[in-house]
Amino acid sequence: MKKNPFKFGSIVDGHYFTNRSEEIKKVKSILMTDNHLIIISPRRFGKTSLISKVMKETGRPVIFLDLQLITNTEDFASQLLKRVYRVYPFEKIKQIIKSFRIIPSISLNPMNNEVDISFQPVSSDSILIEDVLNLLERVSDKKKKLIVVFDEFQEIKNIKKEIDRQIRSTIQHHQNINYVFLGSQESLMRDIFEKKKSPFYHFGYLLPLDRIPHQEFLAYLAAGLKSAADKPEETAKEILEITKSHPYYTQQLAFNVWELLNNAGKSKNPVEESVDEIIMHHDMDYERLWNTINRTDMKILIGMSLSEFTPLSSEFSKKYFVGASSTIFSSLKRLTQNGLVIKTELGYEIDDPFFKRWVNKRRIR
Ligand SMILES: Nc1ncnc2c1ncn2[C@@H]1O[C@H](COP(=O)(O)OP(=O)(O)OP(=O)(O)O)[C@@H](O)[C@H]1O
Ligand SMILES: [Mg+2]
Repeated sequence: MKKNPFKFGSIVDGHYFTNRSEEIKKVKSILMTDNHLIIISPRRFGKTSLISKVMKETGRPVIFLDLQLITNTEDFASQLLKRVYRVYPFEKIKQIIKSFRIIPSISLNPMNNEVDISFQPVSSDSILIEDVLNLLERVSDKKKKLIVVFDEFQEIKNIKKEIDRQIRSTIQHHQNINYVFLGSQESLMRDIFEKKKSPFYHFGYLLPLDRIPHQEFLAYLAAGLKSAADKPEETAKEILEITKSHPYYTQQLAFNVWELLNNAGKSKNPVEESVDEIIMHHDMDYERLWNTINRTDMKILIGMSLSEFTPLSSEFSKKYFVGASSTIFSSLKRLTQNGLVIKTELGYEIDDPFFKRWVNKRRIR
C-alpha cells in the first residue's frame, strides 16, 4: 500500500522536511561562534523541526527543554538535571552535585534506565537555578560545546516571577554553552528580547523564521503528489494558493488531498473538496472559538476573510469597519496576541486559512 508522503502536527524530519537550507546554514554558523540564538515565528512555522534537524547534524551534545511542560522552579531544575544525565557520564555529574547548596534526591528508574530527580520545595529559587545552570557550564567541554535549547521560551514568565532575571544573571557568565531560545507568540518573544528593561534584552542573534519559499514548497508538494494526482504541479499550486505556503497548513491540506485522491479515486476538484472536509471537521472548534471573540474583533475578522486589503488601509475601513483606526489597531493587537491573526511581511493576515474560509462562508450563507 502506498503511504501518504505528507505529515503535519509534530516535528518533521527526513523526507517530510523541505528546504530551510539558508536557515540551516545561518543557525550552524551562529552556533560555531560564542553567541546565543533566538528563533521567533508564528505558531507552527517549523522552529522545533528546524532546530532539531540542525542539532542532529552538528554532532554536539544537546539539552532540549520545552518550557510549556514546566510547572515551577524545582521542576525546571530537576528536568534540566535529568537531561544532563542523558548526555554526560553519571560519575562526572555526581562530583559536581556534591557541591550543590541544595541536594536533590536522585534514583535510577529500572523501568526505563532514566534518572529520576527531585528537589524538595526550596526557599531560595535563585540558589537552585544558579547551581543547576552552572553545572551545565562545568560539564560542557570547551572543544565540544554544549547546546542548550529552551523551546516555547515565552512561557518563562508563567513559571515564576523573576525566574527570567535569575536565569539570565547566571548564564551571562557562561562561556562553554550556546543557548538557543525558541518561541512563538511573537509579541511576547519580542518583549523578552527587544525591550530595554527586559533581562534578556539583545541576548543573542535574532532569527525570525518565515514561510517556506513558494518555489521550493511547490517542488516538494508536486513530488509528493505524483503518486496520487494526474497533474501534481497544478494541484500543488492550488494548495499553495490557499495556504500561502504556511508550513503546517500546507502539509495538512496536501495530506488530505493525497488521501482523497488515493481513497476516493478521481475527483474533479480535490483541493476544494479537501478544504471543505477540513472545515467541516473543525466546525465545532471554530464555532467555540468564534464565541470567545468580541464584536469588534468579529467585524475585523469578517472583513479580513472577505477582502485582500490589509485591515489598516483606508479601503478596508471604508468597506468593512467604520470606526477609528485606533480601534482597528487595538483589535489587531488582541487578535495577534491570541494567535488568530499573524503579522508577516505581507501585513496582517488570518493565521488559519481554513478558519478564514469558515468565517467567510458563514458570512455569506
Ligand atoms: N521544513 C519543513 N518542511 C516541511 N514541513 C514543515 C517544515 N517545517 C515545519 N513543517 C510543517 O509544520 C509543522 C509544524 O512544525 P514544528 O512543530 O516544527 O513548528 P513550530 O514552529 O515548532 O510549532 P509550535 O509553534 O507549535 O511550537 C510540521 O508538522 C510540518 O507539517
Ligand atoms: Mg515548536
